[in-house]
Order: sequence, then C-alpha cells, then structure tokens
Amino acid sequence: MIPLFDLTRQYSSIKEEIIVAVDKVLASGRVILGPEVKKLEESIADYLKVNYAVGVGNGSDALVIALRAMGIKKGDKVITTPYTFFATASSIVRNGGKPVFVDVEPESYNIDLNQVEYVLKNETVFGIIPVHLFGQTVDLEGLNYLKEKYGVKVLEDCAQSIGSEGEVNGEIKKSGTVGDAAILSFFPTKNLGAYGDGGMIITNNVEIYEKSKTLRVHGAKKKYLHDEIGYNSRLDEIQAAILNVKLKYIDLWTEKRAKIAEKYAIEFEKRQLPIKFPKILEKSYRYHVFHQYVIEFESNKIREKVKEHLKNNSIGTSIYYPLPLHLQKCFKDLGYKKGDLPVSEKLSQTTLALPIFPELTYSEIETIVEKIKEAMEG
Ligand SMILES: Cc1ncc(COP(=O)(O)O)c(C=O)c1O
Repeated sequence: MIPLFDLTRQYSSIKEEIIVAVDKVLASGRVILGPEVKKLEESIADYLKVNYAVGVGNGSDALVIALRAMGIKKGDKVITTPYTFFATASSIVRNGGKPVFVDVEPESYNIDLNQVEYVLKNETVFGIIPVHLFGQTVDLEGLNYLKEKYGVKVLEDCAQSIGSEGEVNGEIKKSGTVGDAAILSFFPTKNLGAYGDGGMIITNNVEIYEKSKTLRVHGAKKKYLHDEIGYNSRLDEIQAAILNVKLKYIDLWTEKRAKIAEKYAIEFEKRQLPIKFPKILEKSYRYHVFHQYVIEFESNKIREKVKEHLKNNSIGTSIYYPLPLHLQKCFKDLGYKKGDLPVSEKLSQTTLALPIFPELTYSEIETIVEKIKEAMEG
C-alpha cells in the first residue's frame, strides 16, 4: 500500500523528541497559551522574517480573524480564487463580506493577477486573498504591484506554502511576507503539521497583531473585560510543543519533497505519457515547497480511469478540488454559473493529486508512475 499521505513514517523518526516535548507540557501544568505557543510564534516569525505571529485554533479561524483584524466591513468585496480549499472564501462570508472569484492561470493553477487587476480597475474592493496553491508561490512582484497601485489589502493564504519563496524588487522573500498579513495551517497533512488542528496569523503590522491577539480570546485585552466579541481560537500548547520540534526539520523535509517531485518528473519523462504538469519555474530560490504533487489529464474520463486503477493497486490519490468554490451550493446567492470560470472548472475535472510526503521512497514513485502508465495504456 502507498498512501497519499503518511504521518506514521515521520513519527517514527522523531518519536523520542515528541514524547519528551509533550511530557514537558503535561508536567508543567501550563496547557493553554503557555511558553510553547510563545516560542513557536517567535520561531515562525523568525523563520519567515516578519515581526509578529499569533497562534490560533486552525487555519480557517486564522483567515477569519486576520481579515477582521485588517478591518473588513459588512458588504466589502474580497477577490479570491475558486480553485482552493473552502475556508479561503468562507472566511470572507463569515466576516459579512462578499467573495469575488477570478479564475486561475492554466499553467500554475494560481490566481490570475491580470484578472485581479481587471476587477480592481472596475470595482471598489477591500482586499485580495491569494493562495499559494499546492506550495507554489504566487507571483510576489505582481502581488506587491497590485497592493501598492490600488491600495488594496492583501491577506496571503499560506496554508499550503510554508517556506516557499518569491522575488520582489530583486529581493527574495518568503510567501506570506508581502501582504498586510498571512495565515498558516498546521493541519496534520500540511508541510508543517501538528497532531491535531492549529493555525497562525503572521504580519508586520502591529495593529493587526494586537487585534488578532485580542480576537483569539473573546475580544478581551484584559481577562473578562471584552472590548468586542471575538472567538475562542487558541493554538493548543501541546500542539505548539510538537510544532517546536518539527519546525527544526521543515527545510530538510522541504528538500525531500523537492527531490520526490524531481523523481516523479524523471519517471514521467521516461514514459512520455499525455499528461500535463503545472509549470514549475526554474528559480535559484525555493519557488515551490511541493505540498501536493498534482498532474493533469486530457479528460475526466482518463482521470477517473487512472484514479480507479491506482485505488485497485492500493495507491492513494485525491482530487483537489472536485467542485470549484463559485459553483458550491452555499455560494449560490453570489450568482455564479457553470462556465464563468472555465480554467478552474476544467482543472476540477482533470487533475489528480499523487502521494507526496518526505518519507515516500523512490521505488514507490516508480511503482506509482508505472501503474499510471498501465491505466492509460490499458
Ligand atoms: C488553502 C487553504 N486555506 C485554508 C485552509 C484551512 O486550514 P485548516 O484546515 O487548518 O482550518 C487550508 C487547509 O485545509 C487550505 O488548504
């Protein structure tokens, strides 16, 4: 069996350290917002080279809290992509705002910044939530240009992209450091994953930082004195302790993911199959952290055939995402219809995510690609 994702292989390599870290928290009796959360916030801020970080309950809450801390008001429009996880767009509605979906680029699957600019030229918009999808950095130069030119707020969704890099004015920057704020998810399958839920808001802006910190504890700056109605959304102390262990390995694990992607590319190249790959630019910096390895088939029929064959051979796959957000029932009132955002709609029918995690072996990759060939030629 080759799973899509496997947490147990990683655990066996760091087990002793994790047990010590968890035991330390339990023995200390400090289990809510203690020194481990603080340490993780400082370490992540340091890693990403930003001023502030606020640990919260999960990435979805991080989006909701960050948007609110940035000052979104009822009815405000926020541009985002329909080809992402649901929470990216629901955070806008949960704040009383209105998502404006624009399509993604067919080559990178990331939000098309030309289409974003078109909307900015024609409508009054509060902000943009770009998603560095599957671990690939959105064009940071372009994003920065839009932010400066249109004075629009930017919240980067880095749930899938911790450590990925781009370039702004000749300077290499990590994803999450160009916007007014950014969010991370520590969902177990993420590149930096906890053993439960977790998330973080990062920012260079002191007001967003202070406001996020207050909002995660019911809007109280001082305990039991509530300036506003916030949330109960704190990063768990035990999860923070686990993440403090894991953060030391993030660059090593990212290197392994990149090597796995390279091996996949070699194996596919050998077999010359009619498969399309997202365009991954050759850069001197870490443009992609390979949270997912996603390939694209010529038709839905072929995708389904391959998916089925891999399943029959105990190889895990997943479809990210089977229904783009503009066509979700819960967003019906926004008025989008089939055909409005054709690239996202096509990708939802033709892409397939293959197993990728740092411990995946080269021989497993060879098996996966061979089984894909079998399905396509059979
Ligand atoms: C792009 C994106 N945004 C937001 C989230 C939400 O994160 P979480 O699952 O931690 O709430 C996820 C993860 O599932 C995601 O992939």
